[in-house]
Amino acid sequence: MNIAIVTGGSSGIGRSAAVQLATRGSGVILTYNGNPDGARETVAEIEALGGTAVALPLDVGRSETFPAFRETVVRTLADTWQADTFTALVNNAGISGMSRFEDASEELFDELNRVLFKGPYFLTQAMLPLLRDGGAIVNITSNSTSSGMEPGYSVYASMKGGVAVLTRYLAKELSVRGIRVNAVSPGPTRTRLGDDGFAKHPEIIAPLAARTALGRVGEADGIGRVIAFLLSDEAEWITAQEIEVSGGYNL
Ligand SMILES: NC(=O)c1ccc[n+]([C@@H]2O[C@H](COP(=O)([O-])OP(=O)(O)OC[C@H]3O[C@@H](n4cnc5c(N)ncnc54)[C@H](OP(=O)(O)O)[C@@H]3O)[C@@H](O)[C@H]2O)c1
Repeated sequence: MNIAIVTGGSSGIGRSAAVQLATRGSGVILTYNGNPDGARETVAEIEALGGTAVALPLDVGRSETFPAFRETVVRTLADTWQADTFTALVNNAGISGMSRFEDASEELFDELNRVLFKGPYFLTQAMLPLLRDGGAIVNITSNSTSSGMEPGYSVYASMKGGVAVLTRYLAKELSVRGIRVNAVSPGPTRTRLGDDGFAKHPEIIAPLAARTALGRVGEADGIGRVIAFLLSDEAEWITAQEIEVSGGYNL
């Protein structure tokens, strides 16, 4: 039985990835931070499809909680699936934050580092003993590291760039266990990111769509399906890749 852990499964790309994985027969442990209602909705969506999902609280910015989280995962795997390992990890949870370089504070830098870089780094390290040999990891980066470079994202994009480099190192070091590691790099995607910015400021959508070759902003399912594919056996020969999923942003 395949079982995936998806961080940040209470909305957006993480929710879609969780649902897409469940559609392909995987059990899902999804995590949430401030939005337990959203996590319950994701679980309900998966159960309505006939799948099994469990939502657990996790702040990926607090690495000191990871050992306790791992113990909760051990109990959840045993209680729900009579399993002692899982097969796939999606490091998706994230926040955005903007500041021009001249104004960037250490507070913003440290927060984005904790959530976007240090968190996935040490969460992966903590969960690795439970990840089955032959399993797979997908890290969510961002096209702000490449085609999407806009002023104001030097901190956010640097952290995502760190995750892109980490992806290749993990692919190398974990290959001895047959574990594949890839990254998915979304372009502008309509989610709750940035304090629900797409819903609060719909005027940002048209200019973003105009800069996108395929003429619209992304939807979470367009990203979630690629994540599920990369974790599937169909992608058995893909590792160490960062795949931009942006509809051709700034092409
Ligand atoms: N949307 C875009 O345009 C875009 C573009 C490039 C990359 N990305 C990346 O895609 C990933 C998913 O974001 P999204 O667009 O789907 O946004 P979203 O709808 O806001 O979802 C973010 C998810 O991350 C969780 N999260 C946030 N801070 C957390 C923390 N400290 N600890 C644990 N979980 C936390 C949220 O949980 P709660 O709500 O429960 O707190 C939520 O489930 C992020 O890594 C983001 O950087 C998004």
